[in-house]
Amino acid sequence: MKPVVTPLHPLFVAKITGVDLGRPIDDTTQGAIESAMDTYAVCVLPGQNLENEELIAFSRLYGPLEVPTDIAGKSGVTGRNRRFAFREIFDISNLDENGGIRGEQDPRSAIRQITQLWHTDLAFRQGSAKWSMLHAKVIPPAGGDTEFADTRAAYDALPDAMKRRLEGLTAEHSLWHSTAKRGGYVPTEEERRSNPPARHKLVRRHPCSRRNALYIASYASHIVGMPVEDGQALLAELIEFATQPQFVYRHKWQVGDLVIWDNRCTMHRATPFSATDHVRDMRRTTIVERAADLLAE
Ligand code: SIN
Repeated sequence: MKPVVTPLHPLFVAKITGVDLGRPIDDTTQGAIESAMDTYAVCVLPGQNLENEELIAFSRLYGPLEVPTDIAGKSGVTGRNRRFAFREIFDISNLDENGGIRGEQDPRSAIRQITQLWHTDLAFRQGSAKWSMLHAKVIPPAGGDTEFADTRAAYDALPDAMKRRLEGLTAEHSLWHSTAKRGGYVPTEEERRSNPPARHKLVRRHPCSRRNALYIASYASHIVGMPVEDGQALLAELIEFATQPQFVYRHKWQVGDLVIWDNRCTMHRATPFSATDHVRDMRRTTIVERAADLLAE
């Protein structure tokens, strides 16, 4: 089998068929996926039915994996990994550790709501994310799509005056800025300490494609050295610009889809579904940036 890459959007996103990730892949296939990711930034691989260990093994081909923060795990309130033995799997579901639908009162339901804000994974860490891979196990009958925005194309389309204004600017990103905006989860002091904010340039050059991309997300609380309100206004303006319909692709999930996105040059958000009535069971891995990638900032 040879990978076949088919574009799904005028600016980014491709479908890759002819690959069975349940088996070890050869170097050519691994390289073809990497090259498609550098060009399209989001790739959809349909019809993969991966066990957690297979998803981890495939993800590791592209770099070290993040272990999700166990928010409020110490208080016993939450613990996002309880369903799985594998610490590298982010449990992007509305299920509790016994496989039942979590109620609205469950703090994990509040935390999950932040994925409905435009974001890029792990922007709140200094060593932020390279790619994420999200695998659909169970999907609801309606809703629960995921939207992606191409922040390279958005940067390219900015007026020159705005490009000049952004030169050298740095934003501060915090997980708790997003939880305060959506869901209302209040972190403990210990959680605040172990998840401090991170700073990243607003415009970053992609280490492989060498294209500039906006690095913005709901986690961005302010712009360093700028009055908070002015910084927030600029961030809101950039997010609005970058999520105009021409820069956005909406993915309607099928069971077995594996979607890979490059967090360095896209944003994404989950869309709502009836989470107290229907199951949405997705599993995610996230590959962290290596030092070589960070140098490109
Ligand atoms: C995520 O933000 O990682 C998950 C997006 C989704 O659930 O659609």
